[in-house]
Amino acid sequence: MKYYLTTPIYYVNAAPHIGHAYTTIVADLLKRFKRMQGCHAVLTTGSDEHGVNVERAAERAGKTPKEFCDVIAAEFARQWQMLGLGVDYFQRTTDAGHARVVNDLFRRCRDNGYIRKGSYTGQYCIFDNLYVNDAKPGDPCPDCGRPTETVTEENFFFELSKFQDKLLERYDSQPDFIQPETRRNEVISFVKSGLTDLSITRTNIKWGIPVEGEAPHVFYVWFDALIAYMSAVAGKSVDGEPLWPADLHLIGKEIVRFHAVYWPAFLMAAELPLPKRIFAHGWLLFENDKMSKSRGNIVRAEPIHKVMGTDALRYFLLREVVFGQDGSFSYDALIGRYNSDLANGLGNLASRTLTMIHQYTMGEIPSQYPDPQIGALATDTIRSVEQCFERFEFSKGLEAIWSLISAVDKYIVAKAPWKLAQMREKSDAARLELAEALYTAVEALRIITALVYPVLPESAHKIWDQLGLGHPFYPDPGNDPNYVTYRSIESVRFGSLKWGELQPGEEIGKISPVFPRIEAKAAIEQMRALEEKVAAEQAVMMGKAPAPAAPAPPASPKIAIDDFSRVDLRVGLVLTAERVKGADKLMHMKIDIGEAEPRTIVAGIAEAYTPEQLINRKVVIVANLQPRKLRGIESNGMIVAASVEGGKPVLAGFHEDIPVGARLK
Ligand code: MSP
Repeated sequence: MKYYLTTPIYYVNAAPHIGHAYTTIVADLLKRFKRMQGCHAVLTTGSDEHGVNVERAAERAGKTPKEFCDVIAAEFARQWQMLGLGVDYFQRTTDAGHARVVNDLFRRCRDNGYIRKGSYTGQYCIFDNLYVNDAKPGDPCPDCGRPTETVTEENFFFELSKFQDKLLERYDSQPDFIQPETRRNEVISFVKSGLTDLSITRTNIKWGIPVEGEAPHVFYVWFDALIAYMSAVAGKSVDGEPLWPADLHLIGKEIVRFHAVYWPAFLMAAELPLPKRIFAHGWLLFENDKMSKSRGNIVRAEPIHKVMGTDALRYFLLREVVFGQDGSFSYDALIGRYNSDLANGLGNLASRTLTMIHQYTMGEIPSQYPDPQIGALATDTIRSVEQCFERFEFSKGLEAIWSLISAVDKYIVAKAPWKLAQMREKSDAARLELAEALYTAVEALRIITALVYPVLPESAHKIWDQLGLGHPFYPDPGNDPNYVTYRSIESVRFGSLKWGELQPGEEIGKISPVFPRIEAKAAIEQMRALEEKVAAEQAVMMGKAPAPAAPAPPASPKIAIDDFSRVDLRVGLVLTAERVKGADKLMHMKIDIGEAEPRTIVAGIAEAYTPEQLINRKVVIVANLQPRKLRGIESNGMIVAASVEGGKPVLAGFHEDIPVGARLK
């Protein structure tokens, strides 16, 4: 049976970081898990390469959009390979085959009467490629908070409004279509509140897929991007079963509307089968803060991979974060989890069990009936892990495995095989008990290793080898049937994973530690140093020289608090903004600072901001400066901005809401 799953196709205007790795790692885990359930699992990821954002990023990098995309798409693909993720198809939206599928889908929707021409004027967020309904010029984007831009154009519209009932019917008849429940409820109330038609082409953008026979229209990036899931596997099947429809779209929570509303509507309009399920996971924060370039707190996977191994990252992400909810990453927590659960937990169980077999039975699996209680617990654990993973409850599944680990640990301590070994020469009972203890421990280790495999593939491979069961580690076996021999860990199936099947008399392999303990301070230093290096390499790749550290301003003479309080700083709201004719740098603004009349202020910020970006923005104003005339206009106050030598001014502002006129103290 096929199982086709996807990750979002990632934008190429930012380099890959741990957030992208998170989704792709979970997809890899699910692929391995589905294979353990006997499915032929196929995974698609890719790169989303069209749109204004990419066009602008390429321009900044001094490259053509295609040249720019080639570099970043290759970087994403390299990341997935480095992390050993089993990607089957890497779909780029600039592939010619994809453009054909997009046009085909458009044609089908049009032939079925769901496309019309219309004119659009409104606000658009170029960062999220999102039209913002009911927004005024300068209003912030509801998703990212950055100012929207006003656009007017003649577009093709997709008649989304015709799909309200059909979509609601689908959510109703298939309650697990959108998961988790919170996201499902959000989507349902969004659709119930009424759907407006969606503009799906652009005429003011060049970097997009041309609508055949309709120049200069190009497709809106989301219409283009979603179809990548289909074009990746167009015409492809496994074991005679077509791969489309997808069994699962794995996404982050911020793009659920595109996947759970627009995408099914496009497919319904084209009379094509719908994906079976959409799971939207939460956000990964850095030390409880949103990761962002401006905060400079982006974490990349590569340093963690190099210092601690990919499995350490996988384990942390799946054990620490409840899948579906937001979670926080920190180096301390990563190392804490690694040392307590992997080094002390699984690693310790593996090395002590295998070392005892090596020492007491000359490396041979002993022959004896195993302990029935541990056996029953192992059998239960197999069942509950499968259930948990099936329900995307990875953290809970791992907890179940770790309960088994700790039960086996206790069992070993209670049996004290080291004592039995000393007594076995003289006592038959001790010899039998030793064999029982060792067989039980090693059989439990085999089951545990098989169960952790989807989460910890590299380490599970190593332990499997040390158990004498495996083959040399190979990052991803794909679906190559020749590779999956009957003993390899890939051949383990939930259906045939049973307690007590380890064969007595087999030799174990060579033992070596799988999770050596990590010294936190040194590891964090190493990762942080690598993080800087990787960030700098990515900046070069994006065509941006790494931001030079702002030179420290010369130390100013100290002032008393009274001196400072003589400066009247106020929160202002920009009401109007227009460029001063003949002066490239100057912007003429009317700013409300809570007085009866708005202030007229002329500021040298016109090269850094457009009038639309300023209107409606809250800024900081020095209210008690002497007026002065600039190009014949009397400026009554000053707007506060940060500046670095040779750089553009950046306006001071607020993250929280604050009333106009409030004083800064
Ligand atoms: N190109 C669109 C997706 C089109 S799919 C047809 C896009 N790209 S993106 O590069 O912004 O990637 C967003 C996805 O990356 C999220 O939905 C999520 O899967 C993953 N993540 C990126 N940052 C993340 C976190 N900080 N935390 C968790 N996942 C995040 O949107």
